[in-house]
Amino acid sequence: MTIADESDVVALMRVGAVVAEARDEMAEHVAPGITTAELDAIGRAVLEKHGARSAPQLAYDFPAATCISVNDELAHGIPSASRVLREGDLINIDVSAELDGYWADTGASFPVGRVSQRAAALLWATRASLHDAMREARAGASLARIGRAVEQRAKRAGFKVVKDLSGHGVGRFIHEAPSIPNTEAEGRGISLWKGLVMTIEPFLTTSATRVIEAKDGWTLRTPDGSWGAQFEHTMIITQGAPIVVTQGRAA
Ligand code: CO
Ligand code: CO
Repeated sequence: MTIADESDVVALMRVGAVVAEARDEMAEHVAPGITTAELDAIGRAVLEKHGARSAPQLAYDFPAATCISVNDELAHGIPSASRVLREGDLINIDVSAELDGYWADTGASFPVGRVSQRAAALLWATRASLHDAMREARAGASLARIGRAVEQRAKRAGFKVVKDLSGHGVGRFIHEAPSIPNTEAEGRGISLWKGLVMTIEPFLTTSATRVIEAKDGWTLRTPDGSWGAQFEHTMIITQGAPIVVTQGRAA
């Protein structure tokens, strides 16, 4: 969506704060021994407390309130009572929701206990790539600049960018136009505009550049078993720095 007036901004900040709170509350409970279903229940409770509805459930009939993806799973992982987190895992928590007709989307990856140096570096570089890209996100800027920022950060750190997962417009639905690619080549031709509500969500891996769908029909994972990370914010484009609506504590 494109912001029409201040009431749009207020409503987006409200739903953005809810998904950020759910993300942060879930992140606080990440530890060896907890199941991804238990984490999902924590996120669901935060959404319900505020009267927000899970976006993946509402829009796509996803079988849980939040998406939780572990290690070689990059997105749309289904929380499960049989998936117990183990020391050294990498977990991605993605929370999106609707409140009063407005939608926001956020995600972040976390270490489970102590992780390998390479996994820690992957987390750091992926978070940095989001913030590099956000510095390029302003009215009039080409989408190619966002993709280039992500690619440069990945390359410098020795990681790969997943080309078939992108950010997107958001606000009146969970996935709106335009697509916000994480590569320079795919971003050519479109420029951002003032008031655009969108996500940036780079996915970096230790080697894969695409994902495949798992047998469950939802989970997107790397074809070669390499691990990945993702960080995502919803933001409003301005002439200067974007207004981040999903900041919260863990951003
Ligand atoms: Co998301
Ligand atoms: Co998203």
